[in-house]
Amino acid sequence: MKFVIDERGKKYILSDEIDFQSDLGIIKKEDIEKSDIGDNLITHLNKEFKVIKPNINDFIELMNRQCSILIQKDIGVVLAHTGIGSGDKVVDAGTGAGAILLHFGNVVGDSGMVYSYEIREDFAKIAKENIDSFGLTNIQIKNKDIKKGIDEENIDLVFLDLIKPYEIIEDAYESLKLGGWIAIYGVYLDGIQISHRILKKVGFKNISIVETLNREYEVRTHGIRPKTRMVGHSGYLLFARKL
Ligand SMILES: C[S@@+](CC[C@H](N)C(=O)[O-])C[C@H]1O[C@@H](n2cnc3c(N)ncnc32)[C@H](O)[C@@H]1O
Repeated sequence: MKFVIDERGKKYILSDEIDFQSDLGIIKKEDIEKSDIGDNLITHLNKEFKVIKPNINDFIELMNRQCSILIQKDIGVVLAHTGIGSGDKVVDAGTGAGAILLHFGNVVGDSGMVYSYEIREDFAKIAKENIDSFGLTNIQIKNKDIKKGIDEENIDLVFLDLIKPYEIIEDAYESLKLGGWIAIYGVYLDGIQISHRILKKVGFKNISIVETLNREYEVRTHGIRPKTRMVGHSGYLLFARKL
C-alpha cells in the first residue's frame, strides 16, 4: 500500500496489487510496488504522483468511515483547552470512525492510554482497523454502551460525542481524577444547554461553551480576502473541570 498526492493536492491510497487508474492516467502496479517515500510515480499521461508518508490528517481524510467525524477546528480546540498530553488517560465515546480518537492516541503517546466506547459492533470493527492501519497501540476500543457505566478510573479527560451526553455526566465525574476535564461535542444547542445544567448540578467547575469559526483567506491578484464560502456550522463544545 502506498500513500500518494497528485499535482492538484488530491490524496490517494494505492494498492500494489492492481494498476491505479484516475483522470490523470494509469500507474502500473509494478511501479507502485517498487516505489518509496519521496519518489514520483508517473502515469501514462505523464502526470506526477508523489509518494509520501501520511501524517494523521492525511490518514483521517482517506480512512474508512461510516458516520460523521469531528473536524480539525474542533479537534484542535479540545486538545488545547483541556491540555491533554503525554502519559494521560482518556475516555472517548462514541468511537465512530475514530477521528478524534486517533488524535488522542497521538498526543498521549506510548505512556498514555485511550479507552473508546462504541455501541455498534460494525463501527467498532472499522475503527479498530483504522487504528491498527495507522499503527497506534495505546488505544482500546470497547464494543459497549457507555450508558452501562465507565469502567476506568483516574481519567484525565472524558470526551463525549453522543446524542444525549448528559446521561453520562455523573458517571464521567466519578471516573475523572481531580483536575480532569470533561469535553462534550454537540451539534444542537438544546443538548448543550441540558448538559450545562447537569454539569453544574454534579459539581463541575470552569464550565464554558465554545463555538469555533474557521475563516480561510485567499490570495488574489488585487489583494487578500476571506473566501466567499466557509463551514457555517459543525458543533458546539462544552468544557468543564473536576476541581
Ligand atoms: C458522530 S459518531 C462519533 C464520531 C467520533 N467522535 C469521531 O471523531 O470520529 C457517534 C458514535 O457514537 C456511537 N454511540 C451512540 N450511542 C452510544 C452509546 N450509548 N455508547 C457508545 N457509543 C454510542 C454511535 O454508534 C456513533 O458511532
